[in-house]
Amino acid sequence: MLFRTKCAALLVASLFAGQSYAETYGVRGSILHFLSDPAQTAEVENSYEYIEDGLLVVRNGKVVDVKPYRQRQSQRYSRIEDYSGKLIMPGFIDTHVHYPQTQMIASYGEQLLEWLETYTFPTEKKFEDKEHALKVSKLFLNELVKNGTTSALVFGTVHLQSVDALFEETEKLNMRLIAGKVMMDRNAPSYLLDTADSSYEESKMLIDKWHNKGRLQYAITPRFAPTSTPEQLTAAGRLKSEYPDVYVHTHLSENTNEIAWVNELFPEREGYFDVYQHYGLAGDKSVFAHSIHLTDSEWDEFERTDSVISFCPTSNMFLGSGLFKLAEAEAHHVRVGLGTDVGAGTSFSQLRSLGEAYGIMQLQSKKMSAFKGLYLATLGSAEALSLEDKIGNFSRRKEADFVVLDWAATDFQKLRYQDTNTLEEKLFALMLLGDDRNVVATYVAGEKVYGQE
Ligand code: GUN
Ligand code: ZN
Repeated sequence: MLFRTKCAALLVASLFAGQSYAETYGVRGSILHFLSDPAQTAEVENSYEYIEDGLLVVRNGKVVDVKPYRQRQSQRYSRIEDYSGKLIMPGFIDTHVHYPQTQMIASYGEQLLEWLETYTFPTEKKFEDKEHALKVSKLFLNELVKNGTTSALVFGTVHLQSVDALFEETEKLNMRLIAGKVMMDRNAPSYLLDTADSSYEESKMLIDKWHNKGRLQYAITPRFAPTSTPEQLTAAGRLKSEYPDVYVHTHLSENTNEIAWVNELFPEREGYFDVYQHYGLAGDKSVFAHSIHLTDSEWDEFERTDSVISFCPTSNMFLGSGLFKLAEAEAHHVRVGLGTDVGAGTSFSQLRSLGEAYGIMQLQSKKMSAFKGLYLATLGSAEALSLEDKIGNFSRRKEADFVVLDWAATDFQKLRYQDTNTLEEKLFALMLLGDDRNVVATYVAGEKVYGQE
């Protein structure tokens, strides 16, 4: 009898646990999310939805609804989290970042190729030690959520265990994340080299272990053309043909010396992008970081192959790499995501990326509105990663990844905020002045993973 009672109690407890998972809760605040690219939408107002006093309804880690708070009666809620006066947006997405470079942000004085030799390779060597990789993974993920970033496309190092470590830590947070082991079999210190065969085998093992496990996905990650032999690029292409659903993630046309080097190494190819195309690495799930110095025919090929660019403003300025031509991407309908490219990038904050992106546009006598910028950091990056059916805005049944932002987090920001009138002005000030201080809370799949208080 006692036994049966105990069993019943356990059953009731587990039923309650099930119920609490299925509970519906609301999040109140000013809600902004994008429906389309503001630069490609006839009336900008049709590209977003803004509800001043809104309610985001969440159940089982998914979005159920967004609506004005006054219409809340149509549903029952286990609780309403009140962020009145704050801004609720879909979580930011970082489409290009190197987690092993967290420790070397702000390394002085060099441009790309010398910077890699001087700082990057020695830092990446440390990831042969799994304990180090686990420690940095934790720190890295913590920085992401602290900055309101809920998804990322991430470089590991050449060491398989660097990717295991990152995925193991990410799984605990249930974040949507794509990562891959660097493939690199030449033109780097011997301590960081793999081979065409070992990179193929290890990437395959990682794909089998992690791709589509929960919210995790894999990217085949040749570092860039100069550090892979034709044999290794062939192996990468073979992986892509065997696993068409897996991403490709690499660098392209970042620096003029790099481009000249690629032309020397691959004289038989028509140009840098053609190297990747030749080995079967271009396509709609292929993300090419930077792509700053593309030729006209390369732009055409990007459009034709539906390949994707990650625009990394703070990195491009820090390494003096050049000015990304966002307008050209728009004209060619090439998908562009926003990346921090830490550790060449100087901040984990996508607000800081957008502040710098604005400057990059100004240097080309062009503008970037706050709407375009915040679209890039959310839905635009989701589209760039072919994840727009899962994340990027608050459409029903999407995964409830979101960030709560303070419009003005410091006295000085408050002073500026008082002098803004329209929504666009307020968003622009936030985009130019904001950073992690403005992130009040971050939610991943409906669970709060970071809060300032
Ligand atoms: N090109 C090849 N490797 C790298 C890297 O680690 N960072 C950047 N920014 N560019 C690269
Ligand atoms: Zn990079």
